[in-house]
Amino acid sequence: MKKREVWASKIGLVFAAAGNAVGLGNLLRFPSKVALYGGGAFMVPYFVALLFLGIPLMVLEWVIGRYAGARGHGSMTGIMGSLFHHANWARVLGSLGVAIPFLIVCYYIYIESWTLGFAVLSLLGQMPEPIMSSDPKTSMAPYVEFFKSYTAPSTFAIAFLLITLLINWLILQRGVVKGIELTARFGIPALLLMGIFLAVVSLSIRGGKGLEGLLYIYTPDLSKIWDPHVWLEASGQIFFTLSLGMGAIATYASYVKAKEDVLKAGLWTAGINEFVEVVIGASIAIPAAFAMFGALAVPELAKEGTFRLGFMSMPAVLMALPLGWLLSAVWFFLLFIAALTSSLALIQPLVSLFEDEMRWKHSKAVNASMLMVVVGAFMSAFVPGFIDEVDFWAGTLMLVFFALVEIIVFVWIFGVYRFHQELTRDVFFKVPKALVYFFAVVSPIFLLGLIYQWGVLQLPKVVANKDVGITLARLFILSTLVFLAFLAVESRRRYLSGPHI
Ligand code: TRP
Ligand code: TRP
Repeated sequence: MKKREVWASKIGLVFAAAGNAVGLGNLLRFPSKVALYGGGAFMVPYFVALLFLGIPLMVLEWVIGRYAGARGHGSMTGIMGSLFHHANWARVLGSLGVAIPFLIVCYYIYIESWTLGFAVLSLLGQMPEPIMSSDPKTSMAPYVEFFKSYTAPSTFAIAFLLITLLINWLILQRGVVKGIELTARFGIPALLLMGIFLAVVSLSIRGGKGLEGLLYIYTPDLSKIWDPHVWLEASGQIFFTLSLGMGAIATYASYVKAKEDVLKAGLWTAGINEFVEVVIGASIAIPAAFAMFGALAVPELAKEGTFRLGFMSMPAVLMALPLGWLLSAVWFFLLFIAALTSSLALIQPLVSLFEDEMRWKHSKAVNASMLMVVVGAFMSAFVPGFIDEVDFWAGTLMLVFFALVEIIVFVWIFGVYRFHQELTRDVFFKVPKALVYFFAVVSPIFLLGLIYQWGVLQLPKVVANKDVGITLARLFILSTLVFLAFLAVESRRRYLSGPHI
């Protein structure tokens, strides 16, 4: 068998995994959801979901990734297959875990390209001049206009999309160690520095008025705690931010050394991600908007869409400060670095599928993956409604379903005994078997509750929309699923005729 790459160092592995999890979700999606769902009311279900879904699933993906990696597999297609003698059912089911990250990256990488474009435009002094006003509508107006014309999409937006695609392609071509790990080694420290700097700036705007925004997030509001919608969104955020329920963590875990302590690695990944989310992410966009526009404006801003806080209110606030162009550039570079290390992780499962299952050369595997991403990214740019539709199906619904599949397949069918053996092999702490039983029962119940809620609350609303763009997005999703299921079966056929299984 061709030798698979392994992470070159422990710190590189942790940074790469942190880069995978830390992304736009931490700095844009989290503050928007918190603002939209009532600040403190959101945080209670958020932490419950972190404890009962996030951390157990994180550890599960690491354990299973190490197991399958040692057997030469890194994509969910191969990972699920490797547990069941490569039965077709397991491979096809696993192919969902390649489809989900691929579908997400189609719009994620387009948003990533905006952050690079806005960073460069800030440096070049091309951002609109601020209008000083405490009325959010007035002071945001130039930036709302700017955002609209940029994402129309402008020629500029397309140019930066191409540059972003090129950067991702170049890094992935260099492979796991010289590409992904190296990027993370520089990226994560830079990200932490820029993030902490901007948090300090935001909290101290107007002599510390920003702090009120932080209080807004951390003052528990128990009145909304029984609202299922808040639970849904909080759990969805946990999945999205930790990159769970889509096989992308397991893919990174498949590149560890045979005796790596995956429990430690998983806890570090979750720990760093949560630090960047609830400490740094919470301290930037919301406090900045609070300080500038006051308490009432924040939920209003969030209502108008996920991108409002990050792409419109943040530049409006930062540009009004001394050296505003520079602050704005730092903000968008921060977002870009966070997004870049995540988009690499979103594409790698596909690369691994082509490499480990189809047995293609690395360069061919990367080229094929990027070609698919280019198609999806251009659909995100030109098909109206594509981003939100794909975000709903792949970024919200399918991953909750796939998380359930993971628990059933890896713990129930593979067996608590065998799973527990893998979980306690070469790790610093022997998790008691009782805990595995506990999560094997509690997490699926939690997940079934979520699936039921999505089905009842959201699905009918979403399905009712039948615009042309939406239909195109659905066709794209469907053909991705079919194509990857086909590859799962086709690659197995090749396996059987190959030298080993
Ligand atoms: N966790 C990433 C973020 O917070 C987004 C993401 C979701 C992701 N699923 C992923 C990244 C899978 C890498 C792999 O922005
Ligand atoms: N409308 C999407 C949402 O509400 C937009 C979105 C999806 C998004 N993924 C994102 C925004 C990641 C920022 C970061 O989630």
